[in-house]
Amino acid sequence: MKEIRVKLKERSYAIHIQSTLLDEAGALARQALGNNAHQAIILSNATVAALYGKRLQRSFTDAGFRVQRFLIGDGERYKNLQTAEALYKFLIEQQVERADVVVALGGGVVGDVAGFVAATYLRGIRFVQIPTTLLAQIDSSVGGKTGVNHALGKNLIGAFHQPALVVIDPETLRSLPPRERHAGLHEAIKYGVIKDRRLFQRIARDLDLLNGCDSEALAQLIARCCEIKARVVEQDEREGDLRRILNFGHTVGHALEAVTHYRRFLHGEAVGQGMRVAARIAERAGLLAADERQHLDEVVLRVGRLPTTKNLALRDIMKAMQRDKKAAAGRLAFVLPVTIGRVVIKTDLPLPLIRSSIKETLL
Ligand SMILES: NC(=O)c1ccc[n+]([C@@H]2O[C@H](COP(=O)([O-])OP(=O)(O)OC[C@H]3O[C@@H](n4cnc5c(N)ncnc54)[C@H](O)[C@@H]3O)[C@@H](O)[C@H]2O)c1
Repeated sequence: MKEIRVKLKERSYAIHIQSTLLDEAGALARQALGNNAHQAIILSNATVAALYGKRLQRSFTDAGFRVQRFLIGDGERYKNLQTAEALYKFLIEQQVERADVVVALGGGVVGDVAGFVAATYLRGIRFVQIPTTLLAQIDSSVGGKTGVNHALGKNLIGAFHQPALVVIDPETLRSLPPRERHAGLHEAIKYGVIKDRRLFQRIARDLDLLNGCDSEALAQLIARCCEIKARVVEQDEREGDLRRILNFGHTVGHALEAVTHYRRFLHGEAVGQGMRVAARIAERAGLLAADERQHLDEVVLRVGRLPTTKNLALRDIMKAMQRDKKAAAGRLAFVLPVTIGRVVIKTDLPLPLIRSSIKETLL
């Protein structure tokens, strides 16, 4: 079993990664939470619960928890305050106490809602992440960002609340639709580009194995990505500075999601396109060698087919980025690779350079 520790003083926790670990999640939770946790509320959706709910429930029951299940709707549109409110009501009705635990079984949507409710119910109770999408296993389950969407924007309501434990079973990815797996692989490529050239090369080499759900290849990939995220979060838990490098590919990625009303791209797919644009900007700005840019481009495109961007308007993409920039002190911030494995953050790029790079890459 691979174990990675996220060291954040009294908020430290372990990430465990291994095939069939789902069956041991209860025992691991018991170890992490101690004997004063009596109730475990498993939060999931119907899709994931049908696949893994029973096994997880058994494992928690065997570890001495009184287990209840609460299912939310499947999809980003259920990541909202109404869903959170329904869960608060359930927790109150079940008399869930401070020492009890919420267990998130599912992708990033389930994890974000579970974490947010756990952060706020009774001023904070513990929660365990059992992520079942590749994106959640390498990204959203680690780091303590939790939250829900508001009608006026994504992830606007939230809290930092670290999980008490993360249990990752790569076997659960076998049932994941290929498109979701590809989206996760784009986020994995992101880690390679920002911090680890060898990881990037391994993804390029093992792409077929990863796409074919080879458990060992996936476990290794997940472990390395979690390790990178853990080290970044340890140094910058609340995204003061360093954590911003995790946004590589996201400046344009977010804009692509927004201009297509979150209907065309999975998040990871938009990040894939965003990374291609960022690399093009870096090349044109003289920061990245042409062959490095081409290599990145080739690997991103080899992961799987990306939704088309051809019919989008440059003006709309630019506008969407400008709207996003308000959140970043009025400047467009780009994370740019200087080589595969190292990035810098630039906030003073000329707009024509950005425009022409988007045009050349996407339109
Ligand atoms: N908190 C963070 O740091 C952070 C980071 C990145 C993304 N996010 C959030 O994560 C969310 C996206 O997460 P996601 O990509 O996991 O999407 P998701 O949670 O919607 O899951 C994608 C789909 O896969 C299904 N699914 C999940 N596991 C499955 C399995 N093993 N087999 C078959 N189907 C399965 C789900 O039911 C869903 O339909 C977004 O809301 C995003 O804002 C949060």
